[in-house]
Amino acid sequence: MPLATLKQVLGPAQSSGYAVGAFNASNLEFVQGIVQAAVAENAPVIIQASQGAIRHAGLELITEIIRTAARTAPVPVVMHLDHGRDLELVRACLDAGFTSVMFDGSALPFEENARLTAEVVRLARGFGASVEGELGRVPQASKSPSAEEVAALMTDPDDAARFAAETGIDALAVAVGSVHQMGSQQARLDLHRLEAVRRRVRLPLVLHGSSGVSEESLREGVRAGLAKVNFATALNVAFKKGFLEAVREEPDRLDPRPYLARAREEVSAAVAHRMRLLGCSGKAAEASAPV
Ligand code: G3H
Ligand code: ZN
Repeated sequence: MPLATLKQVLGPAQSSGYAVGAFNASNLEFVQGIVQAAVAENAPVIIQASQGAIRHAGLELITEIIRTAARTAPVPVVMHLDHGRDLELVRACLDAGFTSVMFDGSALPFEENARLTAEVVRLARGFGASVEGELGRVPQASKSPSAEEVAALMTDPDDAARFAAETGIDALAVAVGSVHQMGSQQARLDLHRLEAVRRRVRLPLVLHGSSGVSEESLREGVRAGLAKVNFATALNVAFKKGFLEAVREEPDRLDPRPYLARAREEVSAAVAHRMRLLGCSGKAAEASAPV
């Protein structure tokens, strides 16, 4: 199928009460594992490349890998820039064919974040692409934020309504208790905060830092209005586990492909599990219907 936009897959998710999984990829095996799971689950999927992933793989190469994998898959695939902080990179991704971009101005003062995000929206419209903005901030686990610090960075519902109206974005990333790059699923979402944002903002809401959130809390978050849920760390952990297990079993192999194949299987299983958790399994047709 040709690539879908974020707006195309999140509209049905929001109206039917499920979330679409967004999975970070930076090489061939991640893309293959993610698409394999989406096909097996008959689910729409968002494949996202961060600035770091683009640095690792090269923009042209990662774009072509995702585009080619999408073209041959019978499910809708969105190609999305994750955490774009640089307008030049946003422009380069749109030129390369990304159907969706995130502009992450969450570390900036409100006015500056809104101004730059609105500029990205104007730019993306010329390409028919969607835009995700962020208000509030999801911290990194490496900074060991305290519960008070996580709470202080959460999205303010009134500001969120103003941000959505001033920027024209298609989806809003919110800070509601998750933390990026957690190695275990210990975080719980602040559902009251999420529901308060939901009441003020009609757009699809996005969760970052989802690898560290308990499964029960993720289910509650989807019921409370999350429509896009991002996973990166959980996939990295799965890849590494598969790769290391395969190396331990056959340490003398000269050909690393069986190691990579096992890593890809683990990524695929991790993605499929999360698609079922979010309720997007079996929703491919719904997500690809004309809007
Ligand atoms: O933007 C990507 C996500 O927020 C991934 O977060 O690595 O904690 O799953 P995670
Ligand atoms: Zn994130």
